[in-house]
Amino acid sequence: MTKSEITYTFDISNVDWARLKQRLQADSFCNGRTPEQYKTSFTNSHTVIFALHNQEIVGTARVLSDGVCNAYVVDVWTQSTYRHQGIASTMMHKLEERLAGQHVSLFTDDAMELYAKCGYKKEEVGMSKVVGQWLQNSAD
Ligand SMILES: CC(C)(COP(=O)(O)OP(=O)(O)OC[C@H]1O[C@@H](n2cnc3c(N)ncnc32)[C@H](O)[C@@H]1OP(=O)(O)O)[C@@H](O)C(=O)NCCC(=O)NCCS
Repeated sequence: MTKSEITYTFDISNVDWARLKQRLQADSFCNGRTPEQYKTSFTNSHTVIFALHNQEIVGTARVLSDGVCNAYVVDVWTQSTYRHQGIASTMMHKLEERLAGQHVSLFTDDAMELYAKCGYKKEEVGMSKVVGQWLQNSAD
């Protein structure tokens, strides 16, 4: 597989969400969403990008944004067998092309180096809360 065989798309209209969940699960990167919840969370995003190889999704990234000043990047994933070839960096770069002028945030446990290379700076305090019970909502 060469870099040129990877394509990128912002189009989510043809995604098989059950298949995407299967692929994420197989790669230990499924956080419990149902296929319908994947569809809802990606559809409700400001911008979604997929990396494709042989018409299969091998990378995802998406951003929540008000379209003016604040954005939040989530679901950054490259399938294990495709890592360290610049796919996540490319997805981040392509997302950012649609986020001019905005303050972009993200949360990471262990991929700091990736984001640092993309120009992100560590913030001293991050705070978060799950409202009610995780994934229990009317989105599904
Ligand atoms: C993190 C992840 C998205 C990186 O994907 P990738 O396509 O391999 O990333 P890139 O090839 O663009 O990496 C560019 C640089 O980022 C850094 N980097 C990549 N993966 C990293 C990781 N897991 N941890 C720390 N730094 C990482 C490296 O410096 C890398 O350069 P190198 O390949 O020359 O070493 C991928 O490892 C992944 O999906 N991990 C599991 C899910 C995850 O943790 N997502 C991030 C949630 S915030």
